[in-house]
Amino acid sequence: MPRLEMTLTEEKDLENSKQITEYKLAKEIFSLSRDILLDPRSRRMKEFTQHGSTTVFEHCVAVAKYSLLLSRFFEKVFRIKFDRRSLVRGALLHDYFLYDWHDPDPKNRIHGFTHPGTAWRNACRDFEINSLEADIIRRHMFPLTPIPPTHRESIVVCLADKWCAVCETFKIDVSSQVIDRVNTGIARAEEHEHGLALPVPVVENI
Ligand SMILES: [Fe+2]
Ligand SMILES: [Fe+2]
Repeated sequence: MPRLEMTLTEEKDLENSKQITEYKLAKEIFSLSRDILLDPRSRRMKEFTQHGSTTVFEHCVAVAKYSLLLSRFFEKVFRIKFDRRSLVRGALLHDYFLYDWHDPDPKNRIHGFTHPGTAWRNACRDFEINSLEADIIRRHMFPLTPIPPTHRESIVVCLADKWCAVCETFKIDVSSQVIDRVNTGIARAEEHEHGLALPVPVVENI
């Protein structure tokens, strides 16, 4: 359940903490993809299961988290820059295929090969997608799909996706905090929109 009652003091403590906290990662994900997260169409990913008991939405938030962590690591080690906005947005939409692939329908047998294309078409239909975000979505299943990712952001999402899939399949909880905080941000923003929110904290504070 999203925790909405965090005090301002608690939020300030999290903000000032030196470590890269789940709080800061969630805040970065939220601020870079606010329009996608607040769009009811993206929330349809909550209706479908991805791996184990993880929903597609939770999986995509987890992939966004590990994509950010990996990009920070590569930026530090190799002194290269990442387009973090496209990285997060591509990660959030990389599995935007919007159907239950566990359904024993014969066409779902090739889900692994076809869903990047479906996700990309859905994302183009519902959101503004740039060419980098398109590459992230379309190439994330490499090497199952033959064409490799061509951008560093796409490679990072491809790697983060594999890591999250393994953790979710073996029920290793590595992302529930960031998922809860992103959900809190969405709930707060929606309350704010409907005039139900407290005057502070502002919606950007997850
Ligand atoms: Fe996928
Ligand atoms: Fe995925």
